[in-house]
Amino acid sequence: MTRPARFITFEGIDGSGKSTQARMLADALRASGHDVVLTREPGGSPGAEEIRALVLEGDPDRWSAETEILLFTAARRDHLERTILPALAAGKVVICDRFADSTRMYQGLSRGDLRGIVDQLHSLMIGREPDLTILIDMDPDKGHARAKGRQTAEERFEDFGTELQAQMRAGFLALANEFADRFRVIDGDQAIEAVAREVLTTVEAELS
Ligand code: ADP
Ligand code: TYD
Repeated sequence: MTRPARFITFEGIDGSGKSTQARMLADALRASGHDVVLTREPGGSPGAEEIRALVLEGDPDRWSAETEILLFTAARRDHLERTILPALAAGKVVICDRFADSTRMYQGLSRGDLRGIVDQLHSLMIGREPDLTILIDMDPDKGHARAKGRQTAEERFEDFGTELQAQMRAGFLALANEFADRFRVIDGDQAIEAVAREVLTTVEAELS
């Protein structure tokens, strides 16, 4: 890694513990004096949060995969312009729960091979990768059980079934190989505090 890792993303299947770990990392970095913006996708800016409701609620067949790519990318563009880039320009650390790698997986893999379209639109409209991506690797059955424990209206993607979750897990691990310079894989099947310690050690090594 050539520059300090100030734009940090968390990726992984649903229920792997991303949100928990993103929050704990933000707390730990703040405690050591960093100015941190904790954000998430889809969402992270007022406009993108509106798009979040469109993509995560309602019938599973509400949008085609192609339309979803456009919606997630539109949300990301707004989030980047209004939240991420201004924070980075102000010298802050940005921690983001999911980013473009989620589109590469969920829209790129789940309904046929659309990865090429995702990548083309990404380079046209986003053109920015995180400095560091923490992949929380997790057994799909365990992740699904955790995710199902939550009561929420955001369920369009949560009934994927174990087979697709397993495909997503393998896809994320392949992505970690493809972008080995910025990905670090951490085993999510440990106690919350143990995962958090590994995350912090990994981030501290790249932040200086
Ligand atoms: P994600 O953001 O990846 O979907 P969350 O952080 O929301 O995952 O975690 C999903 C659920 O699992 C939450 O109820 C959370 O408290 C719990 N959880 C997170 N990490 C662990 C862990 N290491 N062990 C057990 N439960 C966990
Ligand atoms: P998230 O709120 O992170 O859910 P979870 O905490 O269960 O992981 O994300 C909601 C869903 O949105 C998740 O199932 C993955 C999906 N998603 C996409 O399909 N494409 C994307 O580009 C992003 C950012 C998320």
